[in-house]
Amino acid sequence: MNDRKTIRIALTKGRLEKDTVGLFEKIGYDVSQLRDKGRRLILEIPGADIEVVLAKAADVITYVEHGVCDMGVVGKDTIDEHGGRFFEVCDLGFGRCRFALAGQKGFDFYKGCGVKTIATKYPNVTRRFFEAKGMDVDIVKIEGSVELAPLLSLSDGIVDIVETGTTLKENGLEVYEDVSPISARVIVNPVSMKLKKTAIENLIAEMEKNI
Ligand code: PRP
Repeated sequence: MNDRKTIRIALTKGRLEKDTVGLFEKIGYDVSQLRDKGRRLILEIPGADIEVVLAKAADVITYVEHGVCDMGVVGKDTIDEHGGRFFEVCDLGFGRCRFALAGQKGFDFYKGCGVKTIATKYPNVTRRFFEAKGMDVDIVKIEGSVELAPLLSLSDGIVDIVETGTTLKENGLEVYEDVSPISARVIVNPVSMKLKKTAIENLIAEMEKNI
């Protein structure tokens, strides 16, 4: 458990990190260390009693679950896939995209009653989506560029993140059905929420006010 009075918040490296740093700047925090971080992974916001940790999305959840970080900013995609014991307290509105079922353009995905094969980086999200439909599918886990799977006939479709739709379009694929919306969320360790209640609630309020 991170038991100092400072709030330690883990940010998902990359775009969500940039958007969160922008939000911190809007709040009025000194983000100079965060803007000029080099290869450092733990940074401070001087004068605000906030320490920022930069991590990969799934690791943000791990650090918050273990209480070594009090809070985290992570995409709903990672939350939906990994789950975990934490409070999801706020939707930051940025990092907006969606999970969608997609595949070869013009293919009638729901036609016929054979078991379909779905390639995805998100097997849990995919399983729940088809379970809710009462539809049996085979799921193949792929690590990246999932769009290749239907093109190479490994799968009938994919469940993947769609943001602009450009990757699908440029590869002759199309969305068959939206699965669920995604955006950046703030998560909080339940013990930190009790022990650092006021400081955490104040930070969340500042973030919500400046979204
Ligand atoms: C994500 C996602 C799609 C693409 C969607 O991939 O898996 O491939 O972005 O974006 P678009 O709708 O704006 O084209 P990412 O860039 O994370 O790479 P990956 O496929 O290797 O994981």
